[in-house]
Amino acid sequence: MPGQDQKTETLHADAAGLDRGAALLRAGALVAFPTETVYGLGADATNDQAVAAIYAAKGRPSFNPLIVHLPGTEAAARYGVLGPNARKLAAAFWPGPLTLVLTRNPDCAVSKLVSAGLPSLAIRVPELPLAQDLLRAAAVPVAAPSANRSGRISPTRAAHVLDGLDGRIAAVMDGAECAVGLESTILDLTDDAPRLLRPGGISVEQIEAVIGARLATGDTQAKAPIAPGLLASHYAPGARVVLNQSARPEGALWLGFGRDCTGAEINLSARGDMVEAAANLFEALHRLDDMAQDGQIIAVAPIPNTGLGLAINDRLTRAAAPRG
Ligand code: TXA
Ligand code: MG
Repeated sequence: MPGQDQKTETLHADAAGLDRGAALLRAGALVAFPTETVYGLGADATNDQAVAAIYAAKGRPSFNPLIVHLPGTEAAARYGVLGPNARKLAAAFWPGPLTLVLTRNPDCAVSKLVSAGLPSLAIRVPELPLAQDLLRAAAVPVAAPSANRSGRISPTRAAHVLDGLDGRIAAVMDGAECAVGLESTILDLTDDAPRLLRPGGISVEQIEAVIGARLATGDTQAKAPIAPGLLASHYAPGARVVLNQSARPEGALWLGFGRDCTGAEINLSARGDMVEAAANLFEALHRLDDMAQDGQIIAVAPIPNTGLGLAINDRLTRAAAPRG
């Protein structure tokens, strides 16, 4: 569990360090590791609690979707749908600083929290040998945002990671300085027209040369966060969401938090634990949406606006916002 008080191990780039890093990841702990772009803050992407712990450690006020790191294209194809453009781009630039946003495979084992409730998944195959070795040793998909506190500069050395996260994560792998130093380029391939979401280590010209077409640009990620709008439309056919309901409104499905919510269809965390609640959030919304009859609303219990509660309430507020 993240906190201000754990001892953060520094792991060396040798066999013992890799074994330890891989074991920690498999056990659900947070391990920062270098890639050729910047240091990532890694967690087992199939473990909801481990993923939630990333947001807690970074102090993120909202659940941005995370990039899943895998050792190669075959591994990527187990989690995302690789169409013709994705295959071409993977052949040209993986391993390397290119992230592809793909439609999730129907049987994708990655936590819904990683996708922040979206039907898509961002996948990257890093090139740095130490990152490759760690991913192969861990043998789980690794969700990793940049290993900095929210709103701070991305780290390119282990010392930068420790500046922000010492005492909040299990370990940091001490590797070479990150060569690219700039985050990966992010391309959305979920539509017919590939779209640039974030410029980065691979240039637009390089990408256009490989796919033989111009990239749709316009709204980049920074100007138009993709998650909120998509989240709303993702739930649009389903139930209306109302917040701050400390008792079940007549006829509603009730999403509880804390121990005063007996009878709730689902409780995000009966013991009032924010990390557990965050881990359960998207799965719970999906399940309630499936359960809801026509016109039935989803009522959500009050959730304190502290710690991860900020991010949980940010998401819930978007889900409750009027639909377009
Ligand atoms: O170079 C990098 O990409 C580094 C290293 C650690 O791999 N990672 C990184 O992660 O920069 P982060 O969390 O700082 O940025 C991830 C970006 C966010 O802007 C997020 O919104 C976007 O990826 N993203 C992730 N999944 C997405 C999805 N399904 N759809 C759209 N955008 C997504
Ligand atoms: Mg970042």
